[in-house]
Amino acid sequence: MPRAETRADSTTGGDRQVVPGPIVLLGAPGAGKGTQAKALMASWSVPQISTGDLLREMRKDPVKSATPLGRQIRQVMDAGQLVSNDLIQAMVLERLSLPDTARGYILDGFPRTLSQATWLDEQLGRHRGTLPVIAVNVQVRYTNLLRRLTGRRICPACGRIYNIYSNPPQRDMVCDVDGTALVERADDSESVACERLRVYEDLTAPVVAHYRALGRFAEVDGELPVEEVTRSVMDAIMRLRS
Ligand code: AP5
Repeated sequence: MPRAETRADSTTGGDRQVVPGPIVLLGAPGAGKGTQAKALMASWSVPQISTGDLLREMRKDPVKSATPLGRQIRQVMDAGQLVSNDLIQAMVLERLSLPDTARGYILDGFPRTLSQATWLDEQLGRHRGTLPVIAVNVQVRYTNLLRRLTGRRICPACGRIYNIYSNPPQRDMVCDVDGTALVERADDSESVACERLRVYEDLTAPVVAHYRALGRFAEVDGELPVEEVTRSVMDAIMRLRS
């Protein structure tokens, strides 16, 4: 867990000298959390911890995905619903115990229920000297969210995220970095995407209010070009950490 020996300097904007501590990226499905988490990870050399990615990794494992739990996870995700708090929290706890989280980490897609948020508060509260969480909410309008989700394409090899409308690859459906054929996420169909947005409003929007009330919270306009959003997110983190 990251400790309070921050040497954060708002002028450096991104290197190993920065100790960002625990960062929670909030935002609806398609708001750009994954895109921004990857940018922060590259700049600050701290890991992105995406619970969605961890679950998708589990689904790729032929042994794990064939278990009753594996089948249940697939069903829940494909329906646009949330996986159980217990399972997600166990996954996050294991991931946070790895040494690469020492200077900080970017939580992407977690917490997304109030129960997960209070669980995280308790976990971090147990470690004296741990830097407090900074939460940044990336805001995008509903109609743009749907377009982003249905237009998203991903490189299964390097994880780079594209969009057929706003950020297409140079060659149709081929990754610019490694030439791998791009794929669509199973839950990005219009019907499932709509359900995910509904679940977000019901269960995850209250998490935003939770972090707003705690302070160390910022909101950024997620409709600006990717690099401008990254700059706003980084500036907000540096400001709240200083
Ligand atoms: P998860 O993988 O976390 O999905 P999500 O939260 O729905 O978010 P997305 O990954 O869809 O969007 P994003 O905000 O990362 O956007 P991105 O950067 O890709 O969760 C999937 C499922 O797993 C859940 O439904 C649930 O079942 C389960 N799950 C996960 N965590 C859980 C938890 N904690 N508890 C219970 N269940 C859990 O960008 C989207 C698109 O927009 C891309 O095409 C991108 O190129 C484009 N884009 C990004 N930024 C911009 C920009 N500034 N301008 C224009 N286009 C942009």
